[in-house]
Amino acid sequence: MNERFLQDKVVLVTGAGGGIGRELALALAAEGARVLVNDLGSSVAGEGQDRSRAQAVVDAIRAAGGEASANGDSVADWAAAHRMVEQALDTFGRIDAVINNAGILRDRFFHNMSADEWRTVIDVHLNGTFYVSRAAAPHFKAQQSGAYLHMTSTSGLIGNLGQANYSAAKLGIVALSKSIALDMAKFSVRSNCISPFAYSRMIGSIPTDTPEQQARVERLQRMQTHQIAPLAVYLASEAAREVSGQIFAVRANEIFLISQNRPIRSLHRGEGWTAQSIAEHAMPALRASFYPLERSPDVFSWDPV
Ligand code: NAI
Repeated sequence: MNERFLQDKVVLVTGAGGGIGRELALALAAEGARVLVNDLGSSVAGEGQDRSRAQAVVDAIRAAGGEASANGDSVADWAAAHRMVEQALDTFGRIDAVINNAGILRDRFFHNMSADEWRTVIDVHLNGTFYVSRAAAPHFKAQQSGAYLHMTSTSGLIGNLGQANYSAAKLGIVALSKSIALDMAKFSVRSNCISPFAYSRMIGSIPTDTPEQQARVERLQRMQTHQIAPLAVYLASEAAREVSGQIFAVRANEIFLISQNRPIRSLHRGEGWTAQSIAEHAMPALRASFYPLERSPDVFSWDPV
């Protein structure tokens, strides 16, 4: 048998009690990784706790001959994030990769969003990704290796209605990932993002009030959670040692490399600008390159293959 991609590596996956995270944990273990399966076991809105969900994934990994350990802490807690990493070290003796996958939704139109809805989503996604990543950082630095992988979303990369909290958190995670990649490159530590498309309970909460929304959800059902796993396995492994600071998307059998922000057009005026000259000269020139107010389904406008 070929050497497995993650033989003897230790990977911490957050939010791995269900959905995409569960499939990542199973696939990582099948490639030889020892997996710390974290999941708070909350609802999509982040309410309640059910530690049995992480344990069920651990049981499935062990039944298939793999090694795993369950953790029921919240990523949105600095001390708990450190306990997760400590548990990986205590149980398996090392940590090689962190996959920040835990997530919740509190969708609301911006003009109605409460401070609590904003804060709770930022806490789990953006702060949670920082806490867990930061807890692993000293170990990655000391061993001069480590891989981070973070789940972002086209809601942040492109835009979506009613998700100001989630979109801001998910684009924040992209900037955090790039910062980690820059800051820790000298320790051979890598950081990348995947923007997944997969039918999970999270997608089940997308409203289906209109025929367009119904058609979108039917398309989403064809994108399965296990199809995200091969790229995650690859990015967590040594085979991806040259890959850092990138954003990928996965949708059924499609893999995309996502663009990053760069200037696309510039104007210069020797005597400087006034509001008047901006109105008459700069804006008509720049307008040709404006982006329309698109949402994710406007850009990913064709069915997955
Ligand atoms: P899911 O709801 O099935 O899984 C999320 C898991 O995170 C749940 O098991 C939940 O218990 C856990 N969790 C929530 N709060 C937690 C906390 N504070 N600490 C630890 N665990 C916590 O959702 P899904 O679809 O599997 O999402 C996984 C990731 O992928 C999320 O980050 C999500 O934002 C992202 N994503 C998913 C997309 C999709 O098409 N399913 C699209 C874009 C992004």
